[in-house]
Amino acid sequence: MEQINLAIQALKNNDVIGLPTETVYGLAADITSEEGINKIFATKERPFFDPLIVHISSTQQAKKCSRIWNEDCDQLANTFWPGPLTLILPKNNDLISDLITSGLDTVGLRMPQHKLALELIEKLGNPVAAPSANKFKKTSPTSAEHVKKAFPSILVIDGGDCSIGIESTILGFENDIPVIYRPGMITSKDIEKCLQKRVLIKESPIAPGHLKHHYMPETPIIMGLVTSQTKELPPQLTSNLVKWELPKDAALAARNLYSKFRELDQKQYSAIYITFTKEQFEAEEFRGIFNRLTKAASFDLTK
Ligand code: TXA
Ligand code: MG
Repeated sequence: MEQINLAIQALKNNDVIGLPTETVYGLAADITSEEGINKIFATKERPFFDPLIVHISSTQQAKKCSRIWNEDCDQLANTFWPGPLTLILPKNNDLISDLITSGLDTVGLRMPQHKLALELIEKLGNPVAAPSANKFKKTSPTSAEHVKKAFPSILVIDGGDCSIGIESTILGFENDIPVIYRPGMITSKDIEKCLQKRVLIKESPIAPGHLKHHYMPETPIIMGLVTSQTKELPPQLTSNLVKWELPKDAALAARNLYSKFRELDQKQYSAIYITFTKEQFEAEEFRGIFNRLTKAASFDLTK
């Protein structure tokens, strides 16, 4: 309670705060504060061409932020909100500035499934823009400590460890066809089931924020597909290398992914070797995890 009031005060003073969500922690500012939004980019050292996601606490608020809200939006919001789905919709220029969307005509909207995040947005009375609370290109934070470590001087609402662990699925529309731009734990199958429509997946960038390298810890990550023919790595490679077998359960793998990067990154290993099976690599529910892992990895032994 006290945390929320202090955070609201900070937001009203045009500051940024650390915000817990079910995916990863966000670095939030009030969407009506130009100074606050500018501070997000400055604090993260994020280039202005990478647009921010706007977090809302009600569907009503989402409708106000967008120009078009159709039946598909209703279906998606009813099924997945609050939850890890970001909807890209044409923006309402009166509420959503070009600074937030990097000049794009669309805005990313999401209702986080976290009690404290929803309480904060509701009490503030305005949506908050929030990218993940990490320095640009670095590993996203899944606990309040991770955020405090990166940004010691900002106020962080401690909402515990994130239950999902990787960022939301980003979904937009092209001529009414649903398109996933960033895979996450809500899969294309989940969306197809909800809308009764085919979904396209385009992991290639429509926004420049989707860079090839992202989420990287300091220690290089090596990705390794394990098959019956897999040979052991040559001994000169394995000295001081740490191995992590990706958990078989996708929800658990996602929840642990970034915290594992961080934990192993602190131990002065020469490399982090992450192994997985072909079944995992091809499974729909692992798509978001491999999207992050591929961007975080320096070497991919599967290729
Ligand atoms: O789970 C999440 O989505 C987390 C939590 C904090 O909500 N947020 C997050 O934000 O991952 P960020 O800024 O780290 O990643 C947002 C991505 C960026 O790659 C950006 O390019 C893309 O969303 N994005 C934002 N607005 C967009 C738009 N209008 N069109 C296309 N892509 C957009
Ligand atoms: Mg991010």
